[in-house]
Amino acid sequence: MAKATKREQWSGQTGFLLAAIGSAVGLGNIWRFPGVAYENGGGAFLIPYLVALLTAGIPILFLDYALGHRYQGSAPTVFRRLFRGGEALGWFQVAISFVIMCYYGVILAWAASFTIFSVNEAWGDDPTAFFLGDYLELADEPGLSLDVVGHLLLPLLLVWLAVMFVMVLGVQNGVEKANKLFLPLLVVLFAILVVRALFLDGAMEGLNALFTPDFGQLTNTDVWLAAYGQIFFSLSIAFGIMITYSSYLRRKSDLASTGLVAGFANSSFEILAGIGVFATLGFMAAQSGVGVNELEGITGPILSFVTFPQIISMMPGGPIFGVLFFGSLVLAGFTSMVSITQVVVAAVQEKFDLGRAAASALIVGVCGTISILLFATTTGLYTLDTVDKYINEIGIITSAILMTVIVAWGVRKLPELRAHLNRVSVFQVGMWWHWLIAVVVPIMLLVMLGSTGYSLLIDGYEGYPTWYLNLMGWGAVGFAIIFALVFTALPGRRDRRHEDELFDPDDLREEEEREEVR
Ligand code: ALA
Repeated sequence: MAKATKREQWSGQTGFLLAAIGSAVGLGNIWRFPGVAYENGGGAFLIPYLVALLTAGIPILFLDYALGHRYQGSAPTVFRRLFRGGEALGWFQVAISFVIMCYYGVILAWAASFTIFSVNEAWGDDPTAFFLGDYLELADEPGLSLDVVGHLLLPLLLVWLAVMFVMVLGVQNGVEKANKLFLPLLVVLFAILVVRALFLDGAMEGLNALFTPDFGQLTNTDVWLAAYGQIFFSLSIAFGIMITYSSYLRRKSDLASTGLVAGFANSSFEILAGIGVFATLGFMAAQSGVGVNELEGITGPILSFVTFPQIISMMPGGPIFGVLFFGSLVLAGFTSMVSITQVVVAAVQEKFDLGRAAASALIVGVCGTISILLFATTTGLYTLDTVDKYINEIGIITSAILMTVIVAWGVRKLPELRAHLNRVSVFQVGMWWHWLIAVVVPIMLLVMLGSTGYSLLIDGYEGYPTWYLNLMGWGAVGFAIIFALVFTALPGRRDRRHEDELFDPDDLREEEEREEVR
């Protein structure tokens, strides 16, 4: 039998933990969480949010870790080793990462540009006209424009080159080092930003708006669905990232305790981002003489690229604040981008027996081209918004349902995976985990999928034309399914599953006994 190539590894537990937190803390934390929390009950949102974290986020994080660590591979390899035909589920997760990677890079390129624009407040008196008009050259209607906006290309190229550079360097020298450098830097920059924001006039009104609970919202199912949706994207679970990352851990690695630290660190950063953003919005409301609840544009791209520039122009020391804010977006987004890209690179490398450099060049080249043709055109913002909505709320949720139902009920591997987790971890996972993964999570997610799917089919999204939503929204999900089937069917390297490649708890016991004897 051919000798299996040695799998790349993190330098140790800390390297993995930093990479896991770096992946989780991303654009989702800074530009999504504050707005989602505000729109869904403010302080009261923290209740469904924490429930979602504890009942779905952390349990699926454990599942991803256990799968990656035990079956030692990228998502397609892990699911193929788990059950016959499983490879397709792995490729479905890879396809979701591929789609996200293509637009995530575009947002990073905008953030990089705006870091520089902050220095002289290049957006002038009208940040809306600047972002949508001068910068994106946005068409009036969603459509299929192939009119590429020339000045978006250079930042995009730089982002893709930086991602490729890290990928080519490998797991330990590239991904791990990037996280070790950027994550502490992000925490410092963001902490300075939050402290500065808290000293702005009106900051407390902003925090009151975010944290004053509207308990009436807790009976609204949409609020609960929003909490579960936020947790999935934010924790980077159910689309291959944590499976891939945990496959680079050494045998003796504490999975469950690391998962708890990563999960709570991500949520802490998210709440910190909420505080920073709302303190800043409070300042804007005070300057404009309106209530925080009268402000518009407090979610997504408009929050970051229109509202924040407006605020930066109003405040003393605005350029520094701007560099801190957009610089934080770049750092947080970059470490997440690297993790999403690693999902695709690892899968392609394993299937086709390619070297890192070749696989990285191929994937970054294809994704880079798609990102230009779809998202750097005059209709790019509409496409990005639509693809993001459908791939997250339909794609990732479907993937999580399939994964939990198949593992729990199809191949009945939960006892084995729990034994694996408990064998290597200090924190012991109890039977509650089975109940959550087998019953609570699938039911919650099915309700969520049904509700979102129904609303998208009946009401559409953002008033965009139906043909456009079918093409770009449902089309993105359809693409992921076709991608999964095609890549599963393509002939690839025969799986040289090797004894060394499956981390069995019994192997660990033997290894420990050998060490004790020594
Ligand atoms: N978890 C990453 C984010 O929040 C993808 O942006």
